[in-house]
Amino acid sequence: MGHGSFFWGIMHKLKVGIIGCGTIGGALGKWIKAKFKKMAVVAYLCDHHEEKAYSLKKKLGRTIRVVSLRELIRKADLIIEAASASVSREVVEFGLKHHKMLLIMSVGGLLDSDRWFKLACESRGRVWIPSGAIAGVDGISAARNTKIRRVKLITKKPPLGLMGAPYFQKKCFPRLHGKREVCVFRGSALDAVKAFPQNVNVAAILSLAGIGPRRTEVEIWTSLRYRVNEHEIYVEGDSGKIRTVTSNAPSPENAKTSYLAILSAVAVLKKIFSSIEIGT
Ligand SMILES: NC(=O)c1ccc[n+]([C@@H]2O[C@H](COP(=O)([O-])OP(=O)(O)OC[C@H]3O[C@@H](n4cnc5c(N)ncnc54)[C@H](O)[C@@H]3O)[C@@H](O)[C@H]2O)c1
Repeated sequence: MGHGSFFWGIMHKLKVGIIGCGTIGGALGKWIKAKFKKMAVVAYLCDHHEEKAYSLKKKLGRTIRVVSLRELIRKADLIIEAASASVSREVVEFGLKHHKMLLIMSVGGLLDSDRWFKLACESRGRVWIPSGAIAGVDGISAARNTKIRRVKLITKKPPLGLMGAPYFQKKCFPRLHGKREVCVFRGSALDAVKAFPQNVNVAAILSLAGIGPRRTEVEIWTSLRYRVNEHEIYVEGDSGKIRTVTSNAPSPENAKTSYLAILSAVAVLKKIFSSIEIGT
C-alpha cells in the first residue's frame, strides 16, 4: 500500500481506526466525519472501556465496528492512537509490522525504546507525531540539521492538571498559597514522561524532534494563580536561538486536554489527505 498520498486517498476512502474514544479520539472522529469524509471514513473503534467505543459509534455511524486493538490495526489503513502511553508503543510496533499509517498522540510511551525507529526504517508504514500543544517543532526540525546545544521545556500547569500523576505517589504535592509559583520537577524528558505520563507528551515530542529524551531539559511548575497550561520552549544551537510560548485554551470537551493538541492532530490529518504542505 502506498502511504500518505492524496492519490491513494482519492482512489479509495481511507478506513480509519481510532484507539481510545475519549476527548481526542472523539474529537478527531467528529472532524473526519465532518470535514474529511471525501477522503476517509471511521471504520473501527477500540477502547478498553467498551461502552466509550459504543457511545462514540452512536455519534459517528452505525456501520462502524467496535473491535480489539490488534484487529483494528490489522484492518484499518490509518490508525489514530489517542489512548494511553501504556499502549502507544505496541500500536506503533504492531502497526509498522503491518505497514500501516499511524498517528500517535501518547508520545510519552515511545521514549523508552528505539526499536520502533528500526522497524520504521524497514516498514512501508509511516508514523505521524503531531506537534501537540507546543509551537516551534518546525524550527527545531530545521535546526536539527546542524548542531543543537540545548533544548529546554518549561511547563506551567494549574494544580488540578498535575494531581494524580505517579510522581506524587512518592513525593508530597507542594503546599500552595496566594500567587506562589513552585517548581515541582526538574530533570530530563525521559524522567519527566515517567513521572507525569499524562502531562508531558510535549516533552516527548520535543525530544523526538530535537536532541533526544536524555538531553532535553524539563521543568514543571504549578501555582494557584495558573489558569491554563503554558509551555515555553528554548532552543540554542548553530542556527541561532528559538523561543516559543504557548498559552493553551482547554478543549471544549475536557479542561485537561489542550485544544491546540487536538487541532494539531487535525492539521496532520489535513497533511495526510492533501497534496499541499505548508511549513517544514
Ligand atoms: N500529543 C499531545 O499533544 C497530547 C495532548 C493531550 C493528550 N495526549 C495524550 O493522548 C491520549 C488521549 O488523551 P485524551 O485527552 O483523549 O484522554 P481521555 O482520557 O479523554 O481518553 C482516553 C481514552 O482512551 C481509553 N484508553 C485508555 N487506555 C487504553 C488502552 N490501553 N486501550 C484502549 N483504550 C484505552 C480510555 O478509556 C479513554 O476512553 C493520552 O495518552 C494523553 O496523554 C497527547
